[in-house]
Amino acid sequence: MPERTFIAQTLVTQAAYARDQYAQRGALTVSTKRDANDLLTQADLAIQAAIVDGIRSAFPGDYIVGEEDGLNVLPEDTHGRCWFIDPIDGTQNFVRGLYPAYGISIGFADQGRAQAGGVALPQNGTAFLAQRGSGATQNGETMRVSSVASLDRARVEIDFGHPHSRATLLHHTKPIMERAGQVRCHCAAVVGICSVATGDADAFIHPGLTPWDFAAAVLIAEEAGARATQFDGTAVPLYAEAPSLVVSNGRIHDEILDTLHSG
Ligand code: IPD
Ligand code: CA
Ligand code: CA
Repeated sequence: MPERTFIAQTLVTQAAYARDQYAQRGALTVSTKRDANDLLTQADLAIQAAIVDGIRSAFPGDYIVGEEDGLNVLPEDTHGRCWFIDPIDGTQNFVRGLYPAYGISIGFADQGRAQAGGVALPQNGTAFLAQRGSGATQNGETMRVSSVASLDRARVEIDFGHPHSRATLLHHTKPIMERAGQVRCHCAAVVGICSVATGDADAFIHPGLTPWDFAAAVLIAEEAGARATQFDGTAVPLYAEAPSLVVSNGRIHDEILDTLHSG
């Protein structure tokens, strides 16, 4: 089965499960990971386990990186077949019921690059899919980034991230906050990045994101015409702990890089 088909089918099943869990979120057991704001629910674990089972049965031998359950270890071989799973991106939103800003993300990489990816937003029935070189779709319809051409007209999503990176984020993005037309934050990276792909946002900025957060969404955005780099303008490495990220419609990318405090 082609990887993109596997991703599409898996997202349908897991989005239905996530909606069901969201409806009864008050009954879920919620624990914390690195700090009191880093949440984990049974739904995160169950969704990741189901996706992992599916990959192991359809693509035995492939390396799997997942946010939960000890799978957050990057492979030594960065050129082999590798999957990146974030079972619920935006767990805070999921737990608190901030509709609809959480997503399920599955990325597939080979030869060191993301090759296929999908993000489901279960609460509004949206599925974004992409395959390298073949474009990106939202529920089957081709997507394109916006045509906004200047920062003072742009809707920029600055993802506030975790408390430990907030001082860095404030330092880098102060001039963006002062000059951008609008500043937003969904606090779910896949939602913000895919908003650039649909043209709802013109740029997304994050101080340091893990690959399971962005592997699928950045490919989706790029296939919709977006440009993605780190703050210093270099390519975003897929196999790195937490690269900084600017994803834009391309037209305002250089202005954002010039405006960011990159030092
Ligand atoms: C988080 C969200 C958030 C981003 C964090 C991520 P999680 O993912 O995407 O928007 O700022 O860096 O860790 O923990 O909800 O899967
Ligand atoms: Ca995440
Ligand atoms: Ca997550």
